[in-house]
Amino acid sequence: MNFKIPFSGRGHAYVESEIEAVIEAMHAPLSLTQSKYKDEFEKSFSDYAGSKYSFTVNTATSALELSAQICQFKNNDEVIIPSHTYTSSAYPFLKAGAKIVWADIDLQTRVVTKETIEACLTKNTRAIVVPHLYGFGAQIDEIVELVEGMNIVVVEDAAQSLGVRLDTRMTGTFADFGVFSFHSHKNMTTLGEGGMITTNDSKYKELIPMLRHNGHCGFNFERENYWQPAMGNVDLPILDNEPIMPSNYCLGEVECAIGIELLKRIDQLNDQKRERAIYFIDAMQDFDQLEFHRVDNDRHNYHLLVAMDKSGKRDSFIRKMAFDEGIQCVVQYYPLNRYDLYQKLGYGEANCPNADRFFDNMISFPFQHMLTDSELDQIIDSTKRVLKSL
Ligand SMILES: Cc1ncc(COP(=O)(O)O)c(C=O)c1O
Repeated sequence: MNFKIPFSGRGHAYVESEIEAVIEAMHAPLSLTQSKYKDEFEKSFSDYAGSKYSFTVNTATSALELSAQICQFKNNDEVIIPSHTYTSSAYPFLKAGAKIVWADIDLQTRVVTKETIEACLTKNTRAIVVPHLYGFGAQIDEIVELVEGMNIVVVEDAAQSLGVRLDTRMTGTFADFGVFSFHSHKNMTTLGEGGMITTNDSKYKELIPMLRHNGHCGFNFERENYWQPAMGNVDLPILDNEPIMPSNYCLGEVECAIGIELLKRIDQLNDQKRERAIYFIDAMQDFDQLEFHRVDNDRHNYHLLVAMDKSGKRDSFIRKMAFDEGIQCVVQYYPLNRYDLYQKLGYGEANCPNADRFFDNMISFPFQHMLTDSELDQIIDSTKRVLKSL
């Protein structure tokens, strides 16, 4: 079906300086991976986010795989994850040997809270994944404080929340690891795929680059001939006396080059999205069938603009928006326990009434940065028209 306004898989357009940065990286007589743009992107990212260490990776999923591997799960270890998130927040932890305990979300903020996490803690809890879903910063400070000293690894899934702050501190810098995505749909994309893993713990400084790049590292002795015994060493990454097998999760230089440029305007991109979200939400004031989450500060970057329908007519609304108005609204974040993958692995049951209620009534509007002002007004007018007609 051809929509007048589709729910685009593309988050934003590029400006000339970003296109030039790509061309320059293509022409540079350097390796197209693991070279100067990677170093510069990682440094700029640490400066921007306020993290001690930042490591580029090819996707946020790879960053989650890395953090899951680093947890070194043993028999019966559990990881707490909301059922209302993207699948990558969860399955890497299953691959790494953990058992999932599904946490509920708060109905108003649509993310986990200290209370919903606390309700899932057991003596076997070894890790917690906190997604800042939709671009809203969850109570990560309180969650980190809650489990302090309990030998629990906390992973912030900041895939959607780049640039989001709790007070002045950036999401993705509170927990043991922060995970960011530069996928095509995100507020900032490094040409379709890309990611970053951050940490403030120097323990992982050498480990993560080795895990990310096939176990490559230097020899621990001086070489007389640079080509002997080999160009470089491959070693077994070890954490707390236990080995972890490496992979190849590297991000290319061209993607890093554009990432450096995009970081210069991510705050602007986020501010523009937030301003538009507030404009949209305020325009809907007289339509209380739709419940939005209104946050007029940088705790929300409105990666996505979602509402909960309280009239029980969600599907009729989406159908009319699509077929009468040509506007593609969607529903997102199928509770993970309902997916075949999790059901087949024994994780089909979840006691998450808010997640279920939200998903069953939620609407996600087209909200890519590339929408023109007139398209945004069209969505608002259509929404009002359809709501009145229902
Ligand atoms: C909450 C969340 N976590 C993880 C990911 C995975 O990101 P990537 O596509 O970069 O692997 C996404 C991407 O959609 C996401 O929204």
